[in-house]
Amino acid sequence: MNCKIHLYFLAIIFSCTIFKVHSQNKINNTSSPNSNSFILACGSNTETTDSDGRKWNSDIKFLISPNTSLSAIAKSQDPSLPSTIPYMTSRIFKSESTYKFPIPPNFRHWIRLHFYPSSYNDFDTSTSFFSVTAGGFTLLNNFSAYITAEALTQAYIIREFSIIKLDSGTLNLIFTPSKDSFAFVNGIEIISMPEIFQSVSMVGFSDQNMNIESYTVQTMYRLNVGGQYISAINDSGLTRIWYDDSPYIFGAALGVSSEAEKNVSIVYPSNDSKFIAPENVYRTARSMGPNSTVNQNYNLTWVFQIDVNFTYLVRLHFCEFQLDKVNQMVFSIFINNSTAEQEADVIAWSNGRGVPVYKDYAVYVNGRTNDDNLWVALHPNVAVKPEFYDSILNGLEIFKLSDTRLNLAGPNPVPSELKSEAESQQGMPIRSSKSSHNGVILGLILGSVTCIGLLVFFIAFLKYKKRKNKQGLSSNTGWLPIYGSSRSSGTATTSKSSGSSRISNLGGGLCRHFTLAEIRLGTDNFSESRVIGVGGFGKVYKGYIDGKTTTVAIKRSNPSSEQGLNEFQNEIELLSKLRHRHLVSLIGACEENNEMILVYDYMEKGTLREHLYKTNTLLSWKERLNISIGAARGIHYLHTGAKYTIIHRDVKSTNILLDEKWVAKVSDFGLSKTGPTLNQTHVSTIVKGSFGYLDPEYFRRQQLTDKSDVYSFGVVLFEILCGRPALNPSLPKEQVSLADWALLNHRRGTFEEIIDPFIKGEINCECLKQFIEIAVKCLSDHGLDRPSMGAVLWNLEYCLQLENNPDGPKVVAEQKANDAYAMHATLLSIEEEGEICQKPEGHSANAVFSQIVNPQGR
Ligand SMILES: *[C@@H]1O[C@H](CO)[C@@H](O)[C@H](O)[C@H]1NC(C)=O
Ligand SMILES: *[C@@H]1O[C@H](CO)[C@@H](O)[C@H](O)[C@H]1NC(C)=O
Ligand SMILES: *[C@@H]1O[C@H](CO)[C@@H](O)[C@H](O)[C@H]1NC(C)=O
Ligand SMILES: *[C@@H]1O[C@H](CO)[C@@H](O)[C@H](O)[C@H]1NC(C)=O
Ligand SMILES: *[C@@H]1O[C@H](CO)[C@@H](O)[C@H](O)[C@H]1NC(C)=O
Ligand SMILES: *[C@@H]1O[C@H](CO)[C@@H](O)[C@H](O)[C@H]1NC(C)=O
Ligand SMILES: *[C@@H]1O[C@H](CO)[C@@H](O)[C@H](O)[C@H]1NC(C)=O
Ligand SMILES: *[C@@H]1O[C@H](CO)[C@@H](O)[C@H](O)[C@H]1NC(C)=O
Ligand SMILES: *[C@@H]1O[C@H](CO)[C@@H](O)[C@H](O)[C@H]1NC(C)=O
Ligand SMILES: *[C@@H]1O[C@H](CO)[C@@H](O)[C@H](O)[C@H]1NC(C)=O
Ligand SMILES: *[C@@H]1O[C@H](CO)[C@@H](O)[C@H](O)[C@H]1NC(C)=O
Repeated sequence: MNCKIHLYFLAIIFSCTIFKVHSQNKINNTSSPNSNSFILACGSNTETTDSDGRKWNSDIKFLISPNTSLSAIAKSQDPSLPSTIPYMTSRIFKSESTYKFPIPPNFRHWIRLHFYPSSYNDFDTSTSFFSVTAGGFTLLNNFSAYITAEALTQAYIIREFSIIKLDSGTLNLIFTPSKDSFAFVNGIEIISMPEIFQSVSMVGFSDQNMNIESYTVQTMYRLNVGGQYISAINDSGLTRIWYDDSPYIFGAALGVSSEAEKNVSIVYPSNDSKFIAPENVYRTARSMGPNSTVNQNYNLTWVFQIDVNFTYLVRLHFCEFQLDKVNQMVFSIFINNSTAEQEADVIAWSNGRGVPVYKDYAVYVNGRTNDDNLWVALHPNVAVKPEFYDSILNGLEIFKLSDTRLNLAGPNPVPSELKSEAESQQGMPIRSSKSSHNGVILGLILGSVTCIGLLVFFIAFLKYKKRKNKQGLSSNTGWLPIYGSSRSSGTATTSKSSGSSRISNLGGGLCRHFTLAEIRLGTDNFSESRVIGVGGFGKVYKGYIDGKTTTVAIKRSNPSSEQGLNEFQNEIELLSKLRHRHLVSLIGACEENNEMILVYDYMEKGTLREHLYKTNTLLSWKERLNISIGAARGIHYLHTGAKYTIIHRDVKSTNILLDEKWVAKVSDFGLSKTGPTLNQTHVSTIVKGSFGYLDPEYFRRQQLTDKSDVYSFGVVLFEILCGRPALNPSLPKEQVSLADWALLNHRRGTFEEIIDPFIKGEINCECLKQFIEIAVKCLSDHGLDRPSMGAVLWNLEYCLQLENNPDGPKVVAEQKANDAYAMHATLLSIEEEGEICQKPEGHSANAVFSQIVNPQGR
């Protein structure tokens, strides 16, 4: 006992030293730490302002010999660029060129380089290879922004470095093209920063200390764990970007995310520690879940792709906002399977609720003994008998440290063309060229996540923690690994492995593999009594895995169909990389004896359809509204969660499933793949999908766009409102198709007659009007006239506001209009429809909607 108290005492002392920042390192003017900063839009002649309101200057006056370079404008603008500034202009270097920056001596500096590998005049950036050095450090070597962006499936990339204090008052940033090539850059940020690094011990070698102050570092990952994207202007003065952590979580064991109550304030231990991370990082967390038995049996694990033969600094941010006593929660921290911390107790470290604390660990990743993954895992420490068997993490940063040759550069990723070819030969998803402008590419979201999962806690709810209402879409760039290392796990695995089993080639080889025996056991040998659904793919069974502890949905394909095989592989590939609250998660797969079986999270309440008109316990209007919002989020995530749009292709009420809390989850990605051919602007393909939901334009032109999903979703909205199937052949001809029938009634002004009588009385009149407008817009004949999924989602949320608070939703709605995703929404004007709403209302929605205009156009 004594011993333990002693340890905590030590820990408290340690935590105090952690935030010690030497006073001479302090930024002089903390209200404006960027006063010594250069934020340059390269190739631009004038000062410009980006969409966040940051000012970017011209770079020309910092170039030593401007004649070795020229400025150019990008030929095309990718819709996923966050802002035209600084990406649409670039500086091109045909020979070695130097920028010279006057910087205050003895300060650490951020160096951020922005690259948008498009085409500039006659310069095709796919042929650009170059090196960048700064202050004697090699930041990039034989670097291809094009290949790197391709591998990450992103339009643009940011590389962030933090360079050590230099004695001289100048920083030279040198771009050197590789032989017969050219260099380019779109944006440069040089920003003075406080010293945020100290010395740290190596994991597994507590006697080996490294003084990080003497290293130049590259930011590999910076994550707001359990929270959302934080933009540069919302960082605590250091203009860093924080991303959502969920793409990096290993397997399906996502734990639960939580958010501090409003009344809990974050109390920084000192003024200087405010720079370490903004409050929003500490206000959200991820922990394991409410069930201590379950928690003892798994590790909450994140996996990151990194470059081998470098040392990494792993910085973990903690802030306990619920517990407040020592020994309430104690856990172990493992980094690359070594114990970094045996007894982590956040309260013992921080000395109180709401007090942030961070811990640094250094780990060397040896190319001879390790692969290029870095693992961070948390596990409850039951040996010290804490009150809760759980663990928590609020933020995570990974920095690469310069090596003995003052180098930070890693190799380029494997070019993704190779991957695409390999994939298309195997009938796997194909990505089109990035010049596509209609945004119709069935690419994959690349991230380090792949699928495995001993246990699925996707929907677990903490008893003692209030679950955060997670909106996975507050920004469509929110979780992309913009900083990260460049290799995608999918690429590496696909190209490396020789392929004994198809599954092991998919999902990065990490998808949980079930044996047929396990599946037979879990389904009573595919007992008909277990069948819960039949689809184009085959039958779906309710089953159990892990000795009946986990209920799952097991989808067994019809073994004879070749098309089924492609869709099967496609679904594993897509689903194992997608993680979202409103998408059904894949647990694993089985491929044996020509069986193709997928194992999913079990959705207790079944399909949306069966709660609309097939049972006696119909959903209320509000429930329906919430479900439509959830489903819209899932689809919106598919469309915008990655650089490339993923088109579902079969949105319908039987593909929207409901979990035990009635949370809507989009399922069935079997069709979300390309057809046989693919060209630059759209996907030409054999028409698939379900009648009643099919986009007429897609049907006519056989060209698939994300707006086809919007159309189908519009039909689902009418299904929800009218409580009848999309197709009902037993009705008179004009009523067979719900889409036609609804539009006809809308035109005639008789819509009220076809609303589901079960909910008719509950609907707020404004809300109804809004809802019908959205659905009608979704059914526009031409894809271009249909709103984006983001706009649909926003409007549905507005509907819910109207429903909840018919008299004063406007203020809330207007605030929401500023949200990142609403910025991407297109104008949805609402015509007054007196006949739908007899009750005259004081305000109209028009004012609100006119604010939601796409700022950049398309
Ligand atoms: C801070 O500013 C004062 C004058 O405003 C200057 O004398 C001092 O040297 C500055 N400190 C540092 C660390 O730059
Ligand atoms: C710090 O910077 C701000 C904005 O640039 C300026 O208004 C303020 O006067 C500065 N304070 C000091 C002490 O230099
Ligand atoms: C750069 O080009 C300008 C005109 O284009 C010329 O006047 C100047 O002498 C050149 N400078 C060098 C160093 O070549
Ligand atoms: C910054 O944070 C505020 C408040 O959380 C939010 O309203 C705003 O949208 C954020 N800005 C950006 C650019 O993310
Ligand atoms: C915060 O409010 C919740 C109820 O909303 C209450 O249970 C909790 O005790 C409060 N916490 C603090 C620190 O006041
Ligand atoms: C922290 O900052 C606040 C306001 O900026 C100031 O009043 C306070 O004295 C500072 N505390 C310390 C310890 O510097
Ligand atoms: C925790 O999970 C185990 C195994 O899944 C189960 O047997 C047990 O009932 C659960 N405990 C609680 C409190 O839910
Ligand atoms: C850590 O363990 C996992 C499996 O538990 C393994 O796949 C991974 O390669 C290991 N990582 C290292 C760096 O040894
Ligand atoms: C958690 O990770 C550690 C280190 O990799 C490993 O030793 C341990 O077996 C893991 N525990 C579980 C339950 O997976
Ligand atoms: C890592 O270093 C080892 C020797 O120390 C070398 O054999 C290997 O090729 C290096 N790997 C990379 C990717 O540079
Ligand atoms: C530069 O990188 C490319 C692509 O990774 C590679 O093909 C080429 O050989 C490299 N060149 C040098 C000089 O390393």
